Amino acid sequence: MSTPAPNEIAYDKIRAVEWENGRLKLIDQRILPDKFEHLYLDHLPESAKAITDMVVRGAPAIGVTAAYAVVLAARDWYKENPTRWQKAIQPDLELLAKARPTAVNLRWAVEHMRGLINAGIPGNPVMRLLSEAQRIHAEDIAANRRMGELGAALIEKDSGVLTHCNTGALATGGYGTALGVVRAGYAAKRIKHVFADETRPWLQGARLTAWELVQEGIPATLIADSAATWLMKQGKVAWVIVGADRIAANGDVANKIGTYMTAVAARYHKVKFMVVAPTSTVDMNTLDGSKIPIETRAEAEVLHFGGIRTAPEGAQAWNPAFDITPADLIDAIVTEKGVVTNPTRDKMLALMKK
Ligand code: MRU
Repeated sequence: MSTPAPNEIAYDKIRAVEWENGRLKLIDQRILPDKFEHLYLDHLPESAKAITDMVVRGAPAIGVTAAYAVVLAARDWYKENPTRWQKAIQPDLELLAKARPTAVNLRWAVEHMRGLINAGIPGNPVMRLLSEAQRIHAEDIAANRRMGELGAALIEKDSGVLTHCNTGALATGGYGTALGVVRAGYAAKRIKHVFADETRPWLQGARLTAWELVQEGIPATLIADSAATWLMKQGKVAWVIVGADRIAANGDVANKIGTYMTAVAARYHKVKFMVVAPTSTVDMNTLDGSKIPIETRAEAEVLHFGGIRTAPEGAQAWNPAFDITPADLIDAIVTEKGVVTNPTRDKMLALMKK
């Protein structure tokens, strides 16, 4: 199937993850925007591999996928052994939790589903676990809409904004985190123009964010990541708006590589910096950013561009997928429970107690 024309898919209809006729259905984000295709999965191990291989990516979307993958595993193990399936499923849960290390939503979803399983589900567990996965999915969309309103309210009328990576419907249960604020802010005429970093090396900005914004008809300009500082110098953006893969207890934020340098540049140019993430991304068990595991991905992602090798044979590459932005470079963390300005440990604790 070819890519749909702009506006053929309204934003609230884009679903990176769906449960359809007893199967897990994922948009294959590796081939967008060239091709719009779905993968259908029936078992947990292939779902874990889809997460590792970035068929589906973005912290909240990975969490929702994991919840549905647990349903697939429960179906398989209950069929295999209706009396001992709760024990037999455990290695699968571990495999899933390790599919990617940085986004805490993945482990959060697995532990949530494991809690239900370990508490005991009488008889066939599929319907009970499926309704929980669907609840997690629906709550993520509702949280994104709330964050969209809260984040947009912080932005002055007719502002330019810069975003990094893809944090939209493709990265979440639907609507998006930082891109949800962009959607709400554009609708409320607070955002006039969006700049999107292309986000080397995987090009989430060029391939996915630009695709979502074109679908929306939101005026957007793609820039090379290295143009962001110069863009700020021109006074073109009032806010940088990004998502998060994990927020530590002190407000330090792990997000897509390049977020940190953008935050440093923003502070220098007096551009405000906003992080938008549901509380399922907040990890109060991780004291600060130095304790967050950072995924290192294949060198090939840096040595190649669009599948074509651009570096000479023999060249080496370093490919950290995420970096840590310290809390003191962040002006606002927007969650569905409220906004934390100038985050500190005490403020994060108060938020999580709400
Ligand atoms: O490697 P990815 O594409 O999974 O990284 C995604 C990001 O860094 C996003 O900014 C983050 O997950 C928030 S998505 C709402």
